[in-house]
Amino acid sequence: MAALAAVDDYRALARRRLARIAFDYLDGGAEDGGALARNRAAFAALRFEPRVLRDVREVDTGVELFGRRQAWPVLVGPTGLNGLYAPRAEEALARAARDAGVPFVLSTASNSLLEDVRAASDGDLWLQLYVSQDRRIAEDLMRRARAAQFSTLMLTVDTQVHGKRDHDIRNGFRIPMPLTPRLAADVLTHPRWCWRMLRQGGSPQFLNLARSAGLGPGLRAQAGLLGRSMDTGLHWADLDWLRRHWPGRLVVKGVLAADDARLAAEHGADGIVVSNHGGRQLESAPSALQALPAIQAAASGMTVMVDGGVRRGADIAKACALGAAAVLLGRAPLYGLAARGARGAAEVLGLLRNEFETTLRLIGEPQAARLHAGVLAAGSVQRLQAL
Ligand SMILES: Cc1cc2nc3c(=O)[nH]c(=O)nc-3n(C[C@H](O)[C@H](O)[C@H](O)COP(=O)(O)O)c2cc1C
Repeated sequence: MAALAAVDDYRALARRRLARIAFDYLDGGAEDGGALARNRAAFAALRFEPRVLRDVREVDTGVELFGRRQAWPVLVGPTGLNGLYAPRAEEALARAARDAGVPFVLSTASNSLLEDVRAASDGDLWLQLYVSQDRRIAEDLMRRARAAQFSTLMLTVDTQVHGKRDHDIRNGFRIPMPLTPRLAADVLTHPRWCWRMLRQGGSPQFLNLARSAGLGPGLRAQAGLLGRSMDTGLHWADLDWLRRHWPGRLVVKGVLAADDARLAAEHGADGIVVSNHGGRQLESAPSALQALPAIQAAASGMTVMVDGGVRRGADIAKACALGAAAVLLGRAPLYGLAARGARGAAEVLGLLRNEFETTLRLIGEPQAARLHAGVLAAGSVQRLQAL
């Protein structure tokens, strides 16, 4: 096998290793894939104006996020159902993030208990929150996260309902997975994946949510909790309720409109993540990068992060040049995990960091904290907006 040189190589290996139903869930976007494609096109539209002869012997990739120094401007972002790719996936991701010197954001829809993730990592842990109609579940999650010393709460606001993902419908993706002839054929042609799933006792369970909801094992009830009972009545005023239960930092994820950035600031958020949920929700959404400049102007002192489509170290530099304090990685570490387990997730983080360092040297800006729009070539932002 040729050496793995890029995130895309891990993606290709993940595609071979995972049953199709799992790979498509990880990889795919909503409907015709417009938002997903725009996320990559947005990075491609931006070019650098490299500066030379600037002494780049020493490179400092470090940045401060919420007053805390971290090794480079990245977070391992929240993704649910990671047990589809490897057993104890969230523990592995949390460790890989800690070893890479960056925070890990645990999803409400995780397959590991947040207490187990804390036991696996003494790094900076954040909790991503989905709020169901029974608010006591979210309240209990926040209580547990506080007790386990998670530093930051990230409220995801772009998942009022699940985006329509045609590939999941075609594959019959559902939790628990119904054993259709199609799934049986898929599983039989991926025996390694099948063995991994069997070793962890079948379909991964939503253990985190189940504990706060007082549910035992039993996927049907757990999945129902996640899907049907999402609180579609959630409103900006509810940030006050969150504040009562979460004294720590509060970040709102899934903002794409400047007016919503203003509202987030008015309602006391400490930060936002500009995001179209990796192109998995609203198909005709802009990429986060396109929305970033207008949002940055409206963010009044909040920390602005961005995600969607980061597959290269240069993408991280481009997002920072446009004013992002850091980027979240969704699929990239998951490709690593699915391809080569915990080691693969760590390798993906390592190669992205190396690419980021190489980019900083080649553009002549050896300090990540000093990246600014001036490192981008003239016309880049216009090209971005024209997509
Ligand atoms: C398989 C998968 C599961 C996800 N689950 C969640 C989740 O539970 N909560 C959440 O806020 N975002 C979730 N996301 C969105 C990511 O946090 C992130 O916004 C997105 O993946 C970034 O795009 P990228 O995958 O191109 O990096 C998920 C994304 C993927 C790919």
